[in-house]
Amino acid sequence: MKSLKQQDQEVYQAVKGEEKRQKEGMELIASENYVSRAVLEALGSVFTNKYSEGYPGKRYYGGQDFTDQVESLAIERAKKLFRAQHVNVQPHSGAPANMIVYSAVLQPGDKVLGMDLSHGGHLTHGHPVTLSAQIYNFTGYKTNSRGEIDYDALEKMARREKPKLMLAGFSAYSRKINYRRFTQIAKKVGAISMMDMAHIAGLIAGKVLTNPVPYFDIVTTTTHKTLRGPRGGMILCKKKFAKVIDQASFPGFQGGPHMNNIAAKAVAFGEALQPSFQKYARQVLKNAKVLEQELKKYGFKIVFGKTENHLILLDVFNSKGISGKQLEEALDKINITVNKNVIPDDPRSPLDPSGIRLGVPAVTTRGMKEKEMKQIAAWIQQATENINSDQALKKIRQEVVRFCKKFPLHKE
Ligand SMILES: Cc1ncc(COP(=O)(O)O)c(C=O)c1O
Repeated sequence: MKSLKQQDQEVYQAVKGEEKRQKEGMELIASENYVSRAVLEALGSVFTNKYSEGYPGKRYYGGQDFTDQVESLAIERAKKLFRAQHVNVQPHSGAPANMIVYSAVLQPGDKVLGMDLSHGGHLTHGHPVTLSAQIYNFTGYKTNSRGEIDYDALEKMARREKPKLMLAGFSAYSRKINYRRFTQIAKKVGAISMMDMAHIAGLIAGKVLTNPVPYFDIVTTTTHKTLRGPRGGMILCKKKFAKVIDQASFPGFQGGPHMNNIAAKAVAFGEALQPSFQKYARQVLKNAKVLEQELKKYGFKIVFGKTENHLILLDVFNSKGISGKQLEEALDKINITVNKNVIPDDPRSPLDPSGIRLGVPAVTTRGMKEKEMKQIAAWIQQATENINSDQALKKIRQEVVRFCKKFPLHKE
């Protein structure tokens, strides 16, 4: 970063500060990860200079030899990774990808079923504060007391509501989804089936979770969570939706694609096709399981009963008598980063909810394994016990920093 350092000290210092924070902290935010140097290089490449509205072979500007090449590479790699009939790699991120799908297949006022936010769903799946909820008519489905999606209730709801679109997928749900049952219900009521696999795309690419792409009409994802690519979105669909999805993306919703980002997606998909990525995905599942078991031993309540993916939702209010916000702040003081989270039908406010959400994709990328998960659980318990002692938290923080330095973000 020689040029940045010389030209703009303020931005340079912010980048260096963030680099230090990432190196010396334990990243347990379930939606975050560390990309490779190759992905970073593609992101910082000259593709950022280029306008390329349209699609490979059909652009509105000249000079597209290399943009066509790199976008086609990203598409072909994504098709191979997820066995998709059609892929659009242009969505700038996950929320735009979902909005593009809605605008492609729905009319204003159409009914959609999505997972209730407090039961693990994402904001863009119909929360009233979003633009999509102002345009379309969402109803939220929930989980049962065993922590599984209540498919019987979902079927009843679908028969009653007769939605145009049924949406699966989540941000804070730790269980598997029964794709067959979900898509059968959609078929019975004549709804289009959609899955937002943003959180688990890397676990699907790594072949440790079932691939939803063959089951659903349309699948959206982000590329920056377990998939370990640049911040971005992607839509995969059956051939019959290809044209409406592409048109809804450009010119419908977005302008020029971010080609530096698409180049970085191509690099990340190339990495995810390697056997080493499958090993990574297997380790993510093992690490999440050990972290869950250890936290259970310390008396934390695991929401949804257990984890079958990379994330764990803890009900800290009902098991430890502290709020998610309090624990998030205490963990921040020891350099462990998590996010407070609502739990199903949480009576507390989203800014001070009952739970916290943990995820292991980032620490697994750094090379941490089962032994390290036990240590992380012990620190979370220690932070809980010492929540009001800044002195004790400071001491734990020194241990965390020393520990993190043993696991560099990139092999030098
Ligand atoms: C399931 C799901 N869909 C969509 C999104 C939105 O993605 P982005 O933040 O890239 O817009 C998220 C982000 O957390 C998510 O978890």
